[in-house]
Amino acid sequence: MPKALITGITGQDGSYLADLLIAKGYEVHGLKRRSSSFNTDRVDHLYVDAHQAGARFFLHYADLTDASSLARCLMSIQPDEIYNLGAQSHVKVSFDIPEYTADVAGLGAVRLLEAVHRAGLHCRYYQASSSEMFGSIPPPQSETSPFHPRSPYACAKVFAHQITVNYRESYGQHASCGILFNHESPRRGETFVTRKITRSVARIKLGLEDTLYLGNLDAQRDWGFAGDYVEAMWIMLQQDVPGDYAIGTGESHSVREFAVAAFSHAGLDWRDHVKIDPRYYRPAEVAALRADASRARRELGWEPRIDFSGLVKMMVDADIEALEHSLQGGVQAVARRSAEH
Ligand code: NAP
Ligand code: GDD
Repeated sequence: MPKALITGITGQDGSYLADLLIAKGYEVHGLKRRSSSFNTDRVDHLYVDAHQAGARFFLHYADLTDASSLARCLMSIQPDEIYNLGAQSHVKVSFDIPEYTADVAGLGAVRLLEAVHRAGLHCRYYQASSSEMFGSIPPPQSETSPFHPRSPYACAKVFAHQITVNYRESYGQHASCGILFNHESPRRGETFVTRKITRSVARIKLGLEDTLYLGNLDAQRDWGFAGDYVEAMWIMLQQDVPGDYAIGTGESHSVREFAVAAFSHAGLDWRDHVKIDPRYYRPAEVAALRADASRARRELGWEPRIDFSGLVKMMVDADIEALEHSLQGGVQAVARRSAEH
């Protein structure tokens, strides 16, 4: 049974990748951070008591800023494949905490690669690189486009990308970088723009709020579905020869277009609800990202299945359903409490 280690397993991509690898028969190990509240919501459905025979899903406390915790996990798990997805992944937040972002998203990668190298492990390694690294380079962008990072996050990701290439070239590690364009889902973090919009659409639709404040509506992104993108990660590590691949749909839309589509899917007019708050502008913006994923199509046979409108509908429907469910739960809880008194 192949063994995989996923950093960032509690995040959006980590959770979809864990679903995929469990379905493929892997034993899956994930690193989680110590937190004062539960932070495993996205993978709780995979949890089985480790004492149970046949358990194939395990979580370990570790942190990408703590090299000794990484070395300890590697030695005890001895994975066949490592997926380094852990990061402080919010671009705007990276301007507020640049040093920490560089530590986790940049140095975290070299800590992991060095631990693999020093331990003499012959495992395959995936690095979560980002289209954000292209920054101000005009679209379409591919794995051969230059980088011009525009945020501390993107600078950290460029370092992690280049050090992964360096370990591959220096030590022959089977290390690949997926340069992924934006990918979203109902599990997307609530402060990224797509989920911020679809959550707000649900709250407006159900009468809980009236206004959504956004920043730059003109930015263009190539948005795909996270479930499709984790398949690309896995396929990369199944290749005989490691390499770097741009992964995206090849189509881009503005933030405004996303908002229009999301509100209209819920039967609302976005103009009645969206206001601009300059607080959400960034010190330096990435204007337009659109993938040229022809290498991935040609060499990996990878294609996205969900298109832009399918993605918007999936996210809006999921947020409305989740909110209805939680409101229903709230009503039941209130009814229960009133019955007690
Ligand atoms: P995400 O939802 O923000 O998840 C990030 C994960 O990293 C979480 O599990 C988080 O743990 C973990 N993490 C944060 N700081 C850490 C630390 N110090 N040590 C160990 N783990 C830490 O991000 P995502 O959307 O799944 O993205 C996965 C990766 O792909 C990230 O590296 C991101 O930068 C990159 N990427 C994402 C996209 C995209 O559009 N989604 C595109 C290109 C590249 P907690 O749950 O405890 O916070
Ligand atoms: N978050 C946010 N909130 N973004 C807003 C808002 C807002 O209220 N209003 C407008 N935007 C614009 C941002 O300025 C940006 O141009 C665009 O919406 C997308 O922002 P995010 O959803 O925060 O994503 P991102 O493109 O900055 O970064 C994501 O994609 C990268 C890949 O290109 C993250 O997932 C990164 O981790 C990832 O590497």
